[in-house]
Amino acid sequence: MGEGGTRRSRAWFGRLDKNGFIHRSWMKNQGFPDHLFDGRPVIGIANTYSELTPCNAHFRELVEWVKRGVYEAGGFPVEFPVFSNGESNLRPTSMLYRNLAAMTVEEAIRGNPVDGVVLCTGCDKTTPALLMGAASCDVPAIVLSGGPMLSGNYHGRPIGSGTDLFKFAEAVKAGTMTLSEFLEAESCMSRSAGHCMTMGTASTMNALAEAMGLSLPHSAMIPAVDSRRRANAYLTGMRAVAIVKEDLRVSKILTRAAFENAIRACAALGGSTNAVIHLLAIAGRVGVSLTLDDWDRLGRGVPTLVDLMPSGRFLAEDFFYAGGLPAVLRRLGEHGFLHKDALTINGRTIWENVADAPCWNEEVVRPWDRPLLAEGGIVVLRGNLAPHGAVLKPSAASPRLLRHTGRAVVFENIEHYRARIEDPALDVDESSVLVLKNCGPKGYPGMAEVGNMGLPPKLLRRGITDMVRVSDARMSGTAYGTVVLHVAPEAAVGGPLALVRDGDLVELDVPARKLQLHVDEEELARRRTAWTPPPPAMDSGYWRLFHDHVLQANEGCDFDFLRGCRGAAPPRDSH
Ligand code: FES
Repeated sequence: MGEGGTRRSRAWFGRLDKNGFIHRSWMKNQGFPDHLFDGRPVIGIANTYSELTPCNAHFRELVEWVKRGVYEAGGFPVEFPVFSNGESNLRPTSMLYRNLAAMTVEEAIRGNPVDGVVLCTGCDKTTPALLMGAASCDVPAIVLSGGPMLSGNYHGRPIGSGTDLFKFAEAVKAGTMTLSEFLEAESCMSRSAGHCMTMGTASTMNALAEAMGLSLPHSAMIPAVDSRRRANAYLTGMRAVAIVKEDLRVSKILTRAAFENAIRACAALGGSTNAVIHLLAIAGRVGVSLTLDDWDRLGRGVPTLVDLMPSGRFLAEDFFYAGGLPAVLRRLGEHGFLHKDALTINGRTIWENVADAPCWNEEVVRPWDRPLLAEGGIVVLRGNLAPHGAVLKPSAASPRLLRHTGRAVVFENIEHYRARIEDPALDVDESSVLVLKNCGPKGYPGMAEVGNMGLPPKLLRRGITDMVRVSDARMSGTAYGTVVLHVAPEAAVGGPLALVRDGDLVELDVPARKLQLHVDEEELARRRTAWTPPPPAMDSGYWRLFHDHVLQANEGCDFDFLRGCRGAAPPRDSH
């Protein structure tokens, strides 16, 4: 039966008894010959392919290139499906299922004869879900992202996933775009396989996986349909075999230094606010005590260098051609904002990987002294409206609104917002603060990306393009605006957000990191006494499990019982 030492797959394939027969024999019905069971590394390929997750649909073909690499390196590749949570179709929000997907990854790894895994990531939540699951097993794991789509192009100009959709939708409401033009733009936006090509959550999370050292250098931004994406898959398969032999487990890569590098990279990228929640959750799986305040502290002094939509002008394809993430990490390292000795998946330090990284276009990856935004870090706000914190992305906001006090226009939930926002009689002007409640982790449920709520059409028609908005919701990484998100505790658990009423004064002061509701304590106490929690959206099933166990945004929205690393000791055999 060959060698293999103490590799976990030997607990299945390395036995000469009845159980070993079962494990090998049934696998052989697929045509695998005897020698593949001789103790060579068994590489699981966690595939998020699904036609309902369009951003990851090309993994059906891409994993074949991973397998070629695994075979060449002397491993035995075995592909398995995991729950695939696609952003564009899954209701009520794919975030509701991030933890479910993470559970399927974790249990599929632990319960099966695999020694290491390739994590096929792409669409927003697939990346954190796979990282969380693999981290809780702490096996050798390497990320293979699917890559971004080609740039969109509409009437001869580039358009970005999500970002231009929001603009088009508002243009239709404002009467400056026809419905037929709007529908024509659908095919112009999504032109190829791959995930959103703006610096949305998918681009952000796959870039941060690379910044944390979990994928091969300069891989995150290779367009999905570029031939180098296949070569990257091939090389990822080869490297997966090596990390098993080197026992390069997730915990050796995901150190505190790796997370700090990722937070600073996120600031330089102008990355998605969703990364805050996902990194907190991943850190919780590996026992790194990351907090919301780390985001604010570590992001200070880091400029946004990457000029990508939604904050800037360009798209992921341009970013890749300009040098991609290595060019950004090099700039961070040269200015003292990178832990250079952090280990990466190719066995080298991050600085060894990027010290000589070229930049081919300084319009796309700006020099340090000519940034897109001087302070790119995600801001953490506190005050009596968000005692446990809230976040705001300055690169997506209007500078003139970063210090603003206005009268609240309150929406009790998303249905109330939709029913009210188009009412011409709504008492609202451009100085108002739009406040949306009950869209947090438990309230929605799943914390939908509705925080960048559209402006009242009557203001859009007057040319107003931004207002201060406050909610316990998230926002698409492709979205923009002066939007305060992730208010914690959320309204549905009785956070102060639940107590805001029409006409209350809300103060946003980003330089002072303040979010304050100007209502006196006695009045708030009266309102608190009258408040009753909304019932769970569903009283049974997974939604109920989610409601009962999801943590608040400032803790990463993981389930309380999933935090921590449970390892991957082979479970007892059932035969
Ligand atoms: Fe999949 Fe945007 S919808 S990455």
